[in-house]
Amino acid sequence: MRRRRIYEGKAKVLFEGPEPGTLVQYFKDDATAFNNQKQGVITGKGVLNNRISEYLMLRLSEIGVPTHFVRRLNMREQLVREVEIIPIEVVVRNVAAGSLAKRFRLEEGSALPRSIVEYYLKNDELGDPLVSEEHITAFGWANPQDIDDILQLSLRINDFLSGLFHGIGLRLVDFKLEYGRLWEEEQMRIVLADEISPDSCRLWDIETNEKLDKDRFRRDLGRVEEAYQEVARRLGVLPEAGPMDLKGPKVMQ
Ligand code: TMP
Ligand code: ASP
Repeated sequence: MRRRRIYEGKAKVLFEGPEPGTLVQYFKDDATAFNNQKQGVITGKGVLNNRISEYLMLRLSEIGVPTHFVRRLNMREQLVREVEIIPIEVVVRNVAAGSLAKRFRLEEGSALPRSIVEYYLKNDELGDPLVSEEHITAFGWANPQDIDDILQLSLRINDFLSGLFHGIGLRLVDFKLEYGRLWEEEQMRIVLADEISPDSCRLWDIETNEKLDKDRFRRDLGRVEEAYQEVARRLGVLPEAGPMDLKGPKVMQ
């Protein structure tokens, strides 16, 4: 079957969907870090992120967070609503780590006075620079009402996901969200898009502080596949077949 490829990113491919206004989101095993400087493959990651993101998006929609997710189609694909992606990566942080720890010379793992929301421009050539609301509105990437919606949604998502992960012994240290504009009968709604997975979250075991996310790949900590499997297992979405069946086919055209 030949399908029109709409967009290929580092970890996912978007194909034309079966009906107008839909897309098929295909999850690859490819991993990159530091804006493509480090590249690799995490066997089975696509299968697990497909399940993990499905689960989290469904739970979020149950509490009234609008998302692009429609349904999972197979091991590596999900049907999503076609949205106009807002070119901003929204990062919510609960604990100092990663670029925040580096920028302000904070010890990784130290508590933050409160949750912090940051915006980064999605632009690989510029290396996704940190931007302020002023930049976002002045350059027209989003308007003040959009930013207001995005901030409120992101804080709700943080509260809900922090609790959900706490329930399975994981600390949600920080995570990245993307949003899109969905047009329905002349009305525009902001909806959660992209994915939520160990690629886009930092998840530490509450007891041991063991990292169970993409930092294992970024920092060459080993046991990368096992970390993704452990998150899926604790969420109750680890496919029965196990890792041997996770080696998926190459992306079809
Ligand atoms: P950072 O500390 O490197 O800024 O990352 C913050 C969070 O955002 C972390 O959970 C990983 C996630 N993230 C992405 O999903 N994509 C990216 O390109 C970057 C830089 C971070
Ligand atoms: N995904 C980003 C990249 O490809 C960064 C990251 O997650 O560390 O560089």
